[in-house]
Amino acid sequence: MAEMDLFADTRAEDLAEAERLRKEIRHNEYLYYVLDAPEITDAEYDRMMVRLREIEAEYPDSVPADSPTQRVGGRASSQFTEVRHLEPLLSLGNVFSAEELRAFDERVKGGLPEGSRVEYVMEPKIDGLACSLIYENGRLVRAATRGDGTVGENVTANVRTIRSIPLVLKAPEGETLPELLDVRGEVYMPRHAFMQLNEQRAERGESEFANPRNAAAGSLRQLDPQVTASRSLSFFAYYLVGEGAREKHSESLAALARYGFKVSENYKVVENIDAAIKYIADFNELRQGLAYDTDGAVIKVNDVYQQRILGATGKDPRWATAYKYPPEQAETTLEDIDWRVGRTGVLTPTAVLTPVKLSGSVVSRATLHNEDFIRSKDIRIGDRVLINKAGEIIPEVLRVVTEKRTGAEKEVEIPTKCPDCGWSVERKGAEAAIRCTNPHCPALGREGLIHFVSREAMNIEGCGPSVINALLDAGLVRDAADLYSLKKEDVLKLERMGEKSADKLLAAIAASKANELDKLLFALGIRHVGAKVARTLAVEFGSMEALLTAEADQLAAIRDIGAVIAESVVTWLSVPTNRDLMERLAAAGLTMTFTAPASSEDNPFFGKTLVFTGTMPTLGRAEAKTMAQDVGAKVSGSVSKKTDYVIAGAEAGSKLEKAQALGVTVLDEAEFLKMLKGE
Ligand code: IVH
Repeated sequence: MAEMDLFADTRAEDLAEAERLRKEIRHNEYLYYVLDAPEITDAEYDRMMVRLREIEAEYPDSVPADSPTQRVGGRASSQFTEVRHLEPLLSLGNVFSAEELRAFDERVKGGLPEGSRVEYVMEPKIDGLACSLIYENGRLVRAATRGDGTVGENVTANVRTIRSIPLVLKAPEGETLPELLDVRGEVYMPRHAFMQLNEQRAERGESEFANPRNAAAGSLRQLDPQVTASRSLSFFAYYLVGEGAREKHSESLAALARYGFKVSENYKVVENIDAAIKYIADFNELRQGLAYDTDGAVIKVNDVYQQRILGATGKDPRWATAYKYPPEQAETTLEDIDWRVGRTGVLTPTAVLTPVKLSGSVVSRATLHNEDFIRSKDIRIGDRVLINKAGEIIPEVLRVVTEKRTGAEKEVEIPTKCPDCGWSVERKGAEAAIRCTNPHCPALGREGLIHFVSREAMNIEGCGPSVINALLDAGLVRDAADLYSLKKEDVLKLERMGEKSADKLLAAIAASKANELDKLLFALGIRHVGAKVARTLAVEFGSMEALLTAEADQLAAIRDIGAVIAESVVTWLSVPTNRDLMERLAAAGLTMTFTAPASSEDNPFFGKTLVFTGTMPTLGRAEAKTMAQDVGAKVSGSVSKKTDYVIAGAEAGSKLEKAQALGVTVLDEAEFLKMLKGE
């Protein structure tokens, strides 16, 4: 009997601990995914998750459906079920000029009692897809896409995987949560996630998404929630319907933020249409620097009573409309197509353009993705083409200006042979990619080596693509480990290599041995292991030795590492030639371990809020962020009075200006790294 009681006690204690952990984890997910201002390190978060999973595994019957461990649950289904929206999901009309906005304002006033004062709320128009989230007593019970506005698709299992969407609402102090809430907002894919996803897809020979919106839609409408979970989607709430709605739309937005949703920090209440027009001009500057795509601004009547009087015409409310910014485009000549073999053997076409200015930079190359893209746009050499920035970042050929064809344009020749080794190329089944069939194509090794020595990887100065090519051609190196046994007399044999440059090169190679495991892991070019994942792995395992014995499950339990990455790492590490390479690198004296800088109160960044902006010379954004977080700094996406430091790289825009205006200390990368090390 006494023993039974003992068990009962442990059980109660364990369950209480689990509940405490859930609370902690939820709060930290909120800080990380919603506020973009984490207070703990990833490793600390992971530890809590691991412990929670452990307890839950012991008491599987006591795991609540909204536990943070249950975001990716459920199995793939064969189709989405239909759901009827509680209230229709309206769409928005469009306006394209200040005149049309004034006409909208006139129509609004015309629809209201004479002399009504109208206040507007201005918001970014997020380029994603609309979703309705239903919360009953504070718990997410259903999520649906817009569909035709009346009936949408039930995407609850997928939406649950989006970490910025609370499964359980925060209950603001002194407020009771409405029993039923219908939260409307936009599911979107941040730009960096979009670029990463496309890179991955190109490597795998899958078709790329044309823009972040398509990528978000494609990712949300997946029958397998696991796939959605791997796609880094996010959500902005912008509308509260029905019971929960406040008298003012701006108050609803504030309530949504209190409930734990991400609400755009760029919304603004304005007094009149002049101020609305000014917002649209100001926001056009600001939006370039945002981490996500916006295609316009939305103007909404703030007073919900006035909204009701105005009502809707068909699918569009009379109280709101969307202002669409003109897409930035430029016309130029497509001079040639350059087919390059990447690290995975895929041939990628790039358009060589007559240089032209676009959104503030000079563009001379544009991505053509693959053969299908070229054919579907009927692109020919010598064509005049319109280009724009896809996802507002990478230039892309939008269309051919066929009106300007002279007849002298030439059909594009799709390569039948690898431009590198001359082996035949192939296109398999449904794949959009053309691949070189030579498993030993020199391009693979070459591109891999170029990546290995690159700035973001081992950062071997003076070892650019031309030196790598020369070393390969001379037979002096075959893989990365060979770099470390190069002798001066070997290097001197290379063309245009003098004493001085040879010494410098060898010194740079030797210096790179001191790079820690995170750099090396990234440098190896393992599929799906970017700089951030590499650092996460290095932080988690601390040494190559420990990583070599890791199993896929163990890897997949780590935050930001899904099953796909885990599988890829484990497979790579199991290949004998890769193991051999590791051994030779270790024998050459490379650092095969990682020591994270301890988060200590002595570090100048401890407890400080940092904002990164612009392109830094060597550090990637994600990497810099993790480094800062490791020493106890908070990293935020936007500059405010609370910001302690702004670390600015090249082409830093509005954030830098704001920092200067607020008198926030601005550092460059070198200063940041120095302070980080406590120098
Ligand atoms: S309000 C009745 N606000 O734009 C209110 N929509 O072109 C309806 N969108 O279907 C929507 N950002 O998917 C609203 N801040 C924002 C928005 C927004 C993006 C999307 C939404 C809508 C589409 C209309």
